[in-house]
Amino acid sequence: MKILVVFTVLLLVFSSCLYKNEEDITGICDTSAVKYSTDIVRIMDENCNGCHSTDQHQGKVILDTYAQTVVHVKNGKLMGSILHKSGYDAMPKNAAKLDNCSIATLNAWIKAGYPNN
Ligand code: HEC
Repeated sequence: MKILVVFTVLLLVFSSCLYKNEEDITGICDTSAVKYSTDIVRIMDENCNGCHSTDQHQGKVILDTYAQTVVHVKNGKLMGSILHKSGYDAMPKNAAKLDNCSIATLNAWIKAGYPNN
């Protein structure tokens, strides 16, 4: 019985990340070596920069430069809005929550000290 529970949990954890990261043909969400210049920029371009580019800057939020992105990492609003936490405006606005792999990728980058790599 215990084994079944453990197996189910593992299955859920892994399946939540399957087929989400477009760059990964194996279908596994790999957050071990996240890079700003590739992974983070791609997530922002695909989901956020239509409204948060230097030109658009809706809500005065700019997410197409490293320096401006870090401002919203440091004040907690980036993850607050992406995770739909109370007290933050849920992002992306009027769209579904980001997929688990994108969220995990952002989390890993922030935990690593948000390097400009
Ligand atoms: C369709 C346009 C649109 C998209 C797409 C969008 N945003 Fe926003 N965002 C806004 C607007 C407009 C605001 C100003 C607050 C409001 O009106 O909800 C905002 C506000 C924010 C804020 C400030 C939140 C706060 O609580 O003060 C952050 C951070 C943010 N967006 C991040 C993101 C991220 C990250 C993404 C992509 C995952 C994203 N946004 C996608 C339009 C958008």
